Order: sequence, then structure tokens, then C-alpha cells
Amino acid sequence: MSTVHIIDHPLVQHKLTQMRMKETGSKDFRELLNEIALLMGYEVTRDLSVEDVDIETPISKMVGKRISGKKLAIVPILRAGLGMLDGMHTLVPVAKVGFIGLYRDPVTHSPVEYYCKLPEDVDKRLVIVVDPMLATGGSSRDAITMLKKRGCSNIRLMCLVAVPEGIKVVQDAHPDVDIYVASIDSHLNENDYIVPGLGDAGDRIFGTK
Ligand code: PRP
Ligand code: URA
Repeated sequence: MSTVHIIDHPLVQHKLTQMRMKETGSKDFRELLNEIALLMGYEVTRDLSVEDVDIETPISKMVGKRISGKKLAIVPILRAGLGMLDGMHTLVPVAKVGFIGLYRDPVTHSPVEYYCKLPEDVDKRLVIVVDPMLATGGSSRDAITMLKKRGCSNIRLMCLVAVPEGIKVVQDAHPDVDIYVASIDSHLNENDYIVPGLGDAGDRIFGTK
């Protein structure tokens, strides 16, 4: 079974609390989400392998380190995942970016696919799927399934807020995919929104409601 990593760094928790507050507007919400994505990205990439490299500083020769092995792809789940893209991309500017478009059907709350554009060599990369909300888990589960159909075998999922039932759905379908979250909240309400959560992430990022 995969590991669930809870990133409880004080800066992440502080910023998440600000995001949750209903009076926080779109501009601040977006900025906070990007900052958190960068901080979480630091943890998600903690175990990347490095290799020695001979360099010269202005003073002397030395052996430095550089990231080796698998290159990265960042794949936000549209729309709300876009809010975590810049933070991750700032951290790893050479990462390629793919997009998976899914929305939750308003009645069934099941994910519906509407877009998929991935880097050509995505199957050779470590793929980090980003989406702030892991609620029923359907969207993350299906996005990962789409990536596996494209040959990806090294995938991590980075979400801001999750609930236990959603985590279980993803773990049952994809026991090989580690999950990184800033908070595991209590439960889903009758509309499958996370309680206490932070509301509708897409609407708060883009000001659509
Ligand atoms: C939200 C969120 C996740 C999904 C999580 O997207 O960004 O993708 O819901 O819910 P689930 O775990 O129950 O699938 P939404 O469908 O609202 O689309 P949006 O990002 O375009 O607003
Ligand atoms: N999608 C959201 O944006 N928020 C939730 O709480 C659940 C799904």
C-alpha cells in the first residue's frame, strides 16, 4: 500500500488556515496556494537522486551535486490544479507540464474527462499530479489511471486537503502512488464537499462564484 505523507510544516499550516477562511478573497487565495505548492513541492521532491558533478567556483575546483535520473512532469488536474502549478514549476523550472481536464458531474459527483494533453515522453518521467482537493477521490483516481494508460509508472499525487474516504479510493486503485497532503480533514458532506475544507477550490481561485 502507498504511503500518505502529511506535510505539517508550520508555514504550510499557517497559510492553509488563511486559505480556509471564508473572507479570504481570490487574489490572496491564489497567492497562498502557490506558496503552499512550492513548500509542499520541496517535500515531494526530497528523495530525488543526485549525482556528483565537477565544477569550478571563482575560487577553486569542487565536486557539486546535481539531480540525476528521472526528469519530472507536473500534471495539474483542471481547473483547480492550475493553482498549484506555478509553485511547483518555480521549484523545478525544467519540468515538463501536462494537463488533465476533469469536472465532477453536479448530480453524480463522478469525474467527467474533457481534456488531456501530456508531454510526449511523459512515460519516462516522474509525474507529480497536483490538485488542491481530494474529496471522493474519483478525480485523482481517474487522472492517475489516464497517466498509467499512457505508460507512466512513477507517479506521485500532491493535494492540499483530503478526507480519509477519498484517500482510500486512490490507494485501493493505485497502491503504488504515494500521496502528499497538508491536511486530512473530517469527512464529506451530503454534496461530497470536504468538511471543514475550504469550499470550492476552482471557484475560489478563479472567482467564478
Ligand atoms: C474539484 C477539485 C478536484 C475534485 C475533487 O474539481 O479540484 O479535481 O473536485 O473531487 P473528487 O475527489 O470528489 O473527485 P471540480 O470538479 O470542482 O472542477 P474544477 O476544478 O474545474 O472546479
Ligand atoms: N471540490 C472542491 O473544490 N471542494 C471540495 O470540498 C470538494 C471537491
